[in-house]
Amino acid sequence: MRPEGVFAADFRSDTVTRPTKEMLEAMWSAPVGDDVFQEDVSVNALEEKAAEMFGMEAALFCPSGTMTNQVAIKLHTQAGDEVICDEKAHIYNYEGGGIAFNSGCSVSLQRGNLGRFSAEDVLRSIRPDDVHSPRTALVALENTVNKGGGVCWDFLEMKKIGKICRENKLAFHLDGARLFNALVAGNESAVDYGKLFDTISICLSKGLGAPVGSLLLGDRERIKKARRWRKVLGGGMRQAGYLAASGAYALDYHIGRLKEDHRKARILGEEVARLPFVKQVIAPETNILLFELEDKAVPRDFLERLKEKGVQAVSFGGQLIRMVTHLDISENALQYAIEQLKSMKA
Ligand SMILES: Cc1ncc(COP(=O)(O)O)c(C=O)c1O
Repeated sequence: MRPEGVFAADFRSDTVTRPTKEMLEAMWSAPVGDDVFQEDVSVNALEEKAAEMFGMEAALFCPSGTMTNQVAIKLHTQAGDEVICDEKAHIYNYEGGGIAFNSGCSVSLQRGNLGRFSAEDVLRSIRPDDVHSPRTALVALENTVNKGGGVCWDFLEMKKIGKICRENKLAFHLDGARLFNALVAGNESAVDYGKLFDTISICLSKGLGAPVGSLLLGDRERIKKARRWRKVLGGGMRQAGYLAASGAYALDYHIGRLKEDHRKARILGEEVARLPFVKQVIAPETNILLFELEDKAVPRDFLERLKEKGVQAVSFGGQLIRMVTHLDISENALQYAIEQLKSMKA
């Protein structure tokens, strides 16, 4: 049955979710104040809750994951420095060139495996202390990797990289926009991550289903500086507690259910792999499915025809298509999308 509503079979991203009734009720009844004066009790409570969850000293509520990442890069670097990250990294591809614009840094791009590089790659990429070279200042990882099809990093490899960072006085940042997906899929705890990284960015508006909001986690000193950079970037919000309340609700009630999204992505992946016009599927580890259409298919036409059938997905470069499962993808929407995909020629 075709699902009700415009968004019902919208697999473009996990950012398309709308707040549930219960989340809206939590927002509606939130006590608020002026957060630039640090007087919004709901924002303060969310920041404390998130910091405690990761065993880190402090947190800063920001309007977006882009802002938490950009503030983190600003914290850890000086103009002229270099950031080690993967060629698939969100901070490199999808933040409007912010590494250069906001922080004046260049990048040492790694060609990892679906966004995951190795400790050896990091060692090889550290610049010598030489006036000709940019100064290597920061290593930034992303877990899960969006452009890698939601794959998770091996925690031991991240630990090895963390050791190299400490030995070489490099800052270590994690873009954890979908870290909760990795936590649900893996064996480590949030505190394990908190011990490893200098700063972590987490998003409340991806799989967790809040309408807005991200948090930057770190030690007290860094978060104090981050508060200043957030203001400079225009991210100082006033009665932001209404938004923070949605995030607190999401942390309480929407983490465990991510398993559901992972199960649905797995089922979708198995069905898509059987379609005659699909060349290759990256088996989903979490909630993102990436598949490659056969060479003669035109992705834009494919997506247009799929949309006419009420199912939305996005092109992810070349022949790649991305479909993401989330809070607003019901069992019915999943089955409907599978039927529609099966009915297509290419
Ligand atoms: C891995 C990753 N990091 C950061 C972001 C940025 O988040 P926002 O859209 O809230 O700026 C996204 C957005 O999809 C993302 O996928």
